[in-house]
Amino acid sequence: MLDRTKRIIIGITGASGALYALHTIKALLSNGVEVHLVISEYGAYVLENETDFSLKGKNVLDSFREKFGDEVSGGNIVKYSNKDLAAEISSGSFKTDGMAIVPCSMKTLAGVAQGFAGSLIERAADVTLKEGRKLVVVPRETPLNKIHLKNMLAVADAGAHILPAMPAFYQKPATIDDLADFMAGRILSLFDIEAELFEPWRK
Ligand SMILES: Cc1cc2nc3c(=O)[nH]c(=O)nc-3n(C[C@H](O)[C@H](O)[C@H](O)COP(=O)(O)O)c2cc1C
Repeated sequence: MLDRTKRIIIGITGASGALYALHTIKALLSNGVEVHLVISEYGAYVLENETDFSLKGKNVLDSFREKFGDEVSGGNIVKYSNKDLAAEISSGSFKTDGMAIVPCSMKTLAGVAQGFAGSLIERAADVTLKEGRKLVVVPRETPLNKIHLKNMLAVADAGAHILPAMPAFYQKPATIDDLADFMAGRILSLFDIEAELFEPWRK
């Protein structure tokens, strides 16, 4: 088989914690990954509210370069509209190494749990599961009701990894960037990319 660059789909939805997505994408790009990015309408809204970052109307890689510097230049990024159900990542014949939905709203979680596939994020997640590829879901809500919990169980039963937006504090984070790097590091680790974004626990 031909060796190719790692290709990972990132879905950003309208849950709090957009910074987790930015740090995950930064780390993927810095590790030479080809990122296929889809952001929902409310994902974009929350991103602009919670950070100084916008993905509207610019070359996306340039936006990441402006924020994080040239280290992200090792990778590449392709952005799609969440309405574009004909995009290449909507098909299982487009080979990827998996997908992370970060952060994942309870609405998108419900869509994935039901196989609804009404948006590109939901469709790409559905395809990732049906092809037996890695799906990492980073849900964020609190408190959780029983519907949220059942939907998490349903996607876990279908093969997804549930990686809650729950950064640890044993690495003594000094900034919110440290917290975001912790989450990004845990996500990358599930894709077998050891990016050393935080100090592992040592007794
Ligand atoms: C500022 C803001 C923060 C939100 N935070 C959350 C959240 O943490 N978790 C969640 O499930 N929904 C949250 N929502 C609600 C979702 O954005 C809403 O359910 C939306 O329909 C999600 O759609 P999407 O999954 O297509 O992005 C938030 C909405 C706003 C405006």
